[in-house]
Amino acid sequence: MCGIVGFVGKKQASPILIEGLSKLEYRGYDSAGVAIIDKDHINVVKCKGRLRNLENKLSEHPLKGIVGIGHTRWATHGKPSDINAHPHNSQDGTISVVHNGIIENYVQLREWLTSKGYKFVSETDTEVIPQLIEYFYNGDIVEAVMKAISRIKGSYAIGVICSKEPGKLVAVRKDSPLIVGLGKNEYYIASDIPAVLNHTRDIYLLNDNEFVVITEDGVKLLTEDKKEIKRDVYHVTWSANAAEKGGFEHFMMKEIHEQPKAIKDTMTSRIMMDKPVTLDDIKITKEQIENIDKIYIVACGTAYHAGIVGKYVIEKLVRMPVEVDIASEFRYRNPIVNEKTLMIIISQSGETADTLAALREAKKQGARVIAITNVVGSSVSREADDVLYTWAGPEIAVASTKAYVTQLIAIYIIALFFAQHKKTLSAEKIEALKKEMLSLPVKAEKVLGNKEIVQEFAEKTYKKEDVFFLGRGLDYAVALEGSLKLKEISYIHSEAYAGGELKHGPIALIEDGTVVIAGATQEKLVEKMVSNIKEVTTRGAKVLAFAFEGDKDIEKAADSVILLPKTLDIFAPVLAVIPLQLLAYYISIKKGCDVDKPRNLAKSVTVE
Ligand code: M6R
Repeated sequence: MCGIVGFVGKKQASPILIEGLSKLEYRGYDSAGVAIIDKDHINVVKCKGRLRNLENKLSEHPLKGIVGIGHTRWATHGKPSDINAHPHNSQDGTISVVHNGIIENYVQLREWLTSKGYKFVSETDTEVIPQLIEYFYNGDIVEAVMKAISRIKGSYAIGVICSKEPGKLVAVRKDSPLIVGLGKNEYYIASDIPAVLNHTRDIYLLNDNEFVVITEDGVKLLTEDKKEIKRDVYHVTWSANAAEKGGFEHFMMKEIHEQPKAIKDTMTSRIMMDKPVTLDDIKITKEQIENIDKIYIVACGTAYHAGIVGKYVIEKLVRMPVEVDIASEFRYRNPIVNEKTLMIIISQSGETADTLAALREAKKQGARVIAITNVVGSSVSREADDVLYTWAGPEIAVASTKAYVTQLIAIYIIALFFAQHKKTLSAEKIEALKKEMLSLPVKAEKVLGNKEIVQEFAEKTYKKEDVFFLGRGLDYAVALEGSLKLKEISYIHSEAYAGGELKHGPIALIEDGTVVIAGATQEKLVEKMVSNIKEVTTRGAKVLAFAFEGDKDIEKAADSVILLPKTLDIFAPVLAVIPLQLLAYYISIKKGCDVDKPRNLAKSVTVE
């Protein structure tokens, strides 16, 4: 995915665009660029690499002008390079475009435009857009953009400027996020809210196939048939600071520390003692719940790992069969879905292409879809039948942390809501579970206060080439997440295995000095984990275990133990994941990696 920004106002556009891009760099950082109209000419500065390279280039070649667009890229079509960086201009240089998404029919369009005499300079799919707009331009940029869009297949959020209409910015979206910021006599477009928050909290959330025309007089939203759209202004309640590092060296560390609050916020008004679990935002009726005979939880990456916890929890509390699937697999395997199926989609960003496609596939086959997402107005939130928002606040670091724990909380809430309706748990049991849930923020805070042992282990581990994570039951789900965190930000090869699987192959990899992280929070499985720990220490492994306070057997068996405050087994993942996030963080720092922007990754993957 990429990040796009645009500005129309009375101030100089360049610093505003750069500031906006700095808030979107989490979306991609292979290259960056801006295009700004100076009188009747578009000037472009762009280059490979991080935004700071662009800033350096701009300090040597400053751009003047009050209307402009900007882009930060996660490369798909065409390697990261100066030439492939956005914005891309049309052949005559009068039209400039930034684009987030993929143009699926760009090869055909490129051939067709080439036959009309157009020459291409980049390897990107995007370059066909300014060329098409130039082809259709006949004195009206809005008309030309609309005609070009009618020829394009794929996903896009696009910002367009035209030197022949220098006061105007046109934008459109389909399957890629785009918002419009409404300032005082100045207006913005952006892929995400933090990019405009230093200027305004009033925004328009756009739907697919809606066009935006911005001039100094204001913003017009249009349908594809040029009908004007009336849209309520969405007022952002979280502050610009929420998307800043707030004194921490990295967003990831800040977000790890925000977890107690995020957990609490996600429970607010939903989980209260002596009151039924209330889900105002979920409209599913008691009858519809009764009708469900199967639940699919579908997601990618960390959200998928939250889904695995969901399977254990829902099956235990609601006694309904749950299947968890990776979104990119679900959509291509002809899953058995019908009107009795409930799909729970989990996505922090609400924009992940595979997850969105799975949602659409399930809806097409008649399933009801509940989305758990962190982004208000995201595609997933708009297309699902019901939405349960996680109130984690903006998550900027590419490695997901606070979104994951709030996804777990959302799953517990849904499980309790269903258990309440289906009466699979007694009222007393539900009260007891709620009481324990409400204590999780304080317990999470306590885990955060106990970092030394994690730091010591990071010191011993950062030079290793492989790390193994083991767990049984919910600890296996946590092991998967711990392993993903480690590999994505420290680039250490790591694998997670269910403890019982060890003897079926993975144990062959254990040798003197191999690092194993073992989870042992699940009461009925602790003994089995002790055996697994012994199996690997006998073969020379160094084991860091995580277990509940007072677990002497684990303390004896492992080399180091992270002791977690006692909670119910089903809630253990919320606490157990925190030291694993910290471990990945400290190892990444020791190795000198870019914690917040790991190589090759982007915050949300809006391409297949
Ligand atoms: O925005 P989503 O939750 O749909 O994103 C899903 C994954 O791309 C995401 O969780 C990814 O695995 C993270 N980098 C993990 O830290």
